[in-house]
Amino acid sequence: MAKATQIQASSVLDRVLVLEMVRVTEAAAIAASKLVGRGDEKAADAAAVQAMREAFNDLYIDGTVVIGEGERDEAPMLYIGEKVGGAPGKAPKIDIALDPLEGTTITAKAGPNALAVLAAAEGGCLLNAPDVYMEKLAVGPGYPAGIIDLARSPRENVEAVAKAKGVAPGDIIVCVLDRPRHEKLIAELRSIGCGIVLIPDGDVAGVIATTNPDTTIDLYMGSGGAPEGVLACAALRCVGGQFKGRLLFRNDDERARARKWGIEDLDRIYDLDDLAKGDCIFAATGVTDGSLLAGVKHRRDGRLTTESVVMRASSGTIRWVKGEHRIK
Ligand code: FBP
Repeated sequence: MAKATQIQASSVLDRVLVLEMVRVTEAAAIAASKLVGRGDEKAADAAAVQAMREAFNDLYIDGTVVIGEGERDEAPMLYIGEKVGGAPGKAPKIDIALDPLEGTTITAKAGPNALAVLAAAEGGCLLNAPDVYMEKLAVGPGYPAGIIDLARSPRENVEAVAKAKGVAPGDIIVCVLDRPRHEKLIAELRSIGCGIVLIPDGDVAGVIATTNPDTTIDLYMGSGGAPEGVLACAALRCVGGQFKGRLLFRNDDERARARKWGIEDLDRIYDLDDLAKGDCIFAATGVTDGSLLAGVKHRRDGRLTTESVVMRASSGTIRWVKGEHRIK
């Protein structure tokens, strides 16, 4: 089995209140929850963005958004490079990757697994991923290092994991985003006899599901957003697991975007540590019920409940936080 590597605790993150990060994801989730099932993706996203930004500004941090809602000219708030936090120039400097509403369509349709999510780390520890697709391959903890490899076929990866797990390849369960572009992948997995959990959206939760035995999901495969890949990697840094990613470009504009963020080798296969390294904090609050967290519940007594998780890579501590809030 792969030996767990000791992650050095960051003195910068030490001074950031880990639990305070939950306040931020809670605020975004609560704001978005008011729009669950209302068929308006944009309004749900805007509500989450606004609430997350306000919550950040209540924190004693000097944060910079490295993965956010888009580039400055595309996103009015929480754009890449935006400074957040209530103590610029005074508090510890941290980089933040965020998605105030991961699963805008899910939220609009009241589907499963929508999350408000963020990761925080020291400067330079989170890849400044361009908003392009990324081919992703992930497996949960407890397997030998190098068990998965994007240079191998889906069949070979399934067979390797099955062998290490001591089961037949057909017993392996793979989570895949339900997209026409995954037709070939799905056909290959079906030919092996694998169980496929097809998700409508939300691959941050999909990747994290490989770490939770209750989901029965062994592997995550397929392409999704590169920023979501970095967020998922921050969680895997805390709970264990392996990840491989490769950026996928549809046109020269996307290639130029990547170069702008300093990515020179466009064919590079990224490891977990290339996407999220060093000490980091990952926090998420459920917007709708899902495999990781329950969604926000608006109760008849005028209160609402939230479920969140916050984890830290250096300590390996995972805190499950249930909140009960007065509706403002
Ligand atoms: P949004 O919250 O931005 O809608 O993203 C949802 C999501 O499903 C991600 O989890 C995933 O990485 C990406 O969209 C996949 O993109 P696409 O919908 O273009 O296949």
